[in-house]
Amino acid sequence: KFYANFIKDDRWLGLVSGLKVTIIVTLEALLLGVIIGFIVAIIRSYHDKTNKLKILNAICKVYLTVIRGTPTMIQILIMYLVVFGSSSLDSIIIGGIAFGINSGAYVAEIVRSGIMSIPIGQTEAGRSLGLNYAQTMRLIIVPQAFKNVLPALVNEMIVLIKETAIIGYIGEQDLTKAAMIIQSRTFDAFMPLLAAAVIYLALVMLLTFFMNKLERRLRNSER
Ligand code: ARG
Repeated sequence: KFYANFIKDDRWLGLVSGLKVTIIVTLEALLLGVIIGFIVAIIRSYHDKTNKLKILNAICKVYLTVIRGTPTMIQILIMYLVVFGSSSLDSIIIGGIAFGINSGAYVAEIVRSGIMSIPIGQTEAGRSLGLNYAQTMRLIIVPQAFKNVLPALVNEMIVLIKETAIIGYIGEQDLTKAAMIIQSRTFDAFMPLLAAAVIYLALVMLLTFFMNKLERRLRNSER
């Protein structure tokens, strides 16, 4: 938990423990978001191609509309105060679930656009080779689609890292909240906020660096 009674020289401990919360929540949300996003995208694409799974497709559409149409802030508050209102589940978990469900809607459309970016001939080729729909998806479409959507997925990850700052509203002490607590104890706003900003920036730059590397590696295997 947050190092609440820090003395002057231990402020960095608050930021470090805040950073830990930010990273944990981001990872939880990323995992859940990618799983949800993938499932929703597959259902929607399958429906588009075959006109089957009508009810599931309708449910996915409602999910996308509601989640993208309402603020993340409201969703996380509903999750904390209503859905898990009477449970003692840690808000770091509740936050992860709320952010994951939110991110899933955006990931779903990213993945779906990736699937659509692969020419229909690729599906036809797969099916002509005797692969079924699932095999064609797994072996031919998704590996190619993944490359195309990687930049958009990195965007989503960056949004997620920064969006987790609103977890402070449900009583979790993330990086932003840690900076605010230091401000309230020391009456100095500039240094803690600058520190938080620099840490977010470093986190995003680190992520971008590794994702660019991954992208280059995937592209190299094309030739
Ligand atoms: N902050 C805005 C909202 O509350 C945008 C969220 C965008 N989220 C995302 N995962 N791309 O709706």
